[in-house]
Amino acid sequence: MITLTVNGVAHSLDIDPSMPLLYALRNHLQLNGAKFGCGMGQCGACTVIVDQAPVFSCQFPVSAIQGRPVRTIEGLGSAEHPGPLQKAFIDKQAAQCGYCIAGMVMRAQALLDRNSAPTEAEIRAHMEPNLCRCGTHMRIIAAISEAAANLRAAGDDPGHAVALAGGAK
Ligand code: FES
Repeated sequence: MITLTVNGVAHSLDIDPSMPLLYALRNHLQLNGAKFGCGMGQCGACTVIVDQAPVFSCQFPVSAIQGRPVRTIEGLGSAEHPGPLQKAFIDKQAAQCGYCIAGMVMRAQALLDRNSAPTEAEIRAHMEPNLCRCGTHMRIIAAISEAAANLRAAGDDPGHAVALAGGAK
């Protein structure tokens, strides 16, 4: 049995330890936000957060989790109640086809969790592994900047705000 703690909820799954985390999330936990893009660690559509760090879940076997918490976009908010970062992506219309967006949001969340005032250069460098084939990178950068500014204006650190939005449990 493999135990995965995802968005604060523990799950015991009878799955192959070599199964990529992405497959466990999508096929066994019905958490379909993270997407299968390339399956080769080259696009970032599958990005989730494991213990504060963004990872390519298509390349991350569940055996490597070893009790560390996993966060997916479902933990940041919902369509009815988007979290602060999700709201900024909506406000900036940062999605075109939307396939890459869950991965983009999770990589950005990992940045905001440790840096509430990233420069544009820091955002660009941090987001570099994630690709958008529609070409909305400029809007994605703008959304991340807006989310950081909104969180600072609210006098909150991003992690706290996510918790308020129901994300970090
Ligand atoms: Fe994982 Fe492309 S699907 S990096």
